[in-house]
Amino acid sequence: MKKTYNIAIDGPAGAGKSTIARRAAKELGFVYVDTGAMYRAMALYFLRKGSDLKDEKAVGDACGEISVDIRYENGEQQVLLNGENVTGLIRTEEVGNAASAISAYPAVRAALLELQRTLAKNSNVIMDGRDIGTLVLPDADCKIYLTASTRVRAVRRYKELEEKGTVCSLEEIEREIIERDNRDMNRKIAPLVQAKDAYYLDSSSLTIDQVVEKIKALAFEKGLEE
Ligand code: DC
Repeated sequence: MKKTYNIAIDGPAGAGKSTIARRAAKELGFVYVDTGAMYRAMALYFLRKGSDLKDEKAVGDACGEISVDIRYENGEQQVLLNGENVTGLIRTEEVGNAASAISAYPAVRAALLELQRTLAKNSNVIMDGRDIGTLVLPDADCKIYLTASTRVRAVRRYKELEEKGTVCSLEEIEREIIERDNRDMNRKIAPLVQAKDAYYLDSSSLTIDQVVEKIKALAFEKGLEE
């Protein structure tokens, strides 16, 4: 079987990874794999169950009760939690913060690793997350570390929430972003760090189109055939 071409995009919450990866995947004819959604699906399970997310043993023991699967409908990733399509239920701040908390546990990460690697083996993928270039796909053909300042990320999130009609405070959002960064970057297992061979891309003053073009150019530079 022909080896697949894999692009890994890692970076902190709100850097624009999913918007950019989705767009680039469409333009390149790749499959977009959002690994954060997998952690979010697991988090939803524990929130529904009323688990104490600080109890690593209880969370770890319950991982065997959970099956997360990915399916594509009209090119869009759908996440299945024990067979239920939960794609529309996992985008809240509550679920995001819970995902950040449980993703620090080895048992949770182990439960998702094989699924992520299998997807990359079977198709050309753009996969985004926190540890894709470092641990999940260390041999990815092209790696990008996508970031932006905390203020820019907070403003983007603020606008998104405002459009949905949610009242919120910019300061509070920025505080939450800093907290989440700290948790994701300082955990013992699979912390968010830039892979040695990843290209550092700060999107603070770039448009979505500019970032997508840069990523495509990098992929062609790194051997992707047109
Ligand atoms: O990218 P996101 O906001 O959907 O991710 C939610 C949380 O899941 C994030 O704060 C940390 C965790 N995560 C992870 O640990 N590793 C990944 N590859 C993707 C997400």
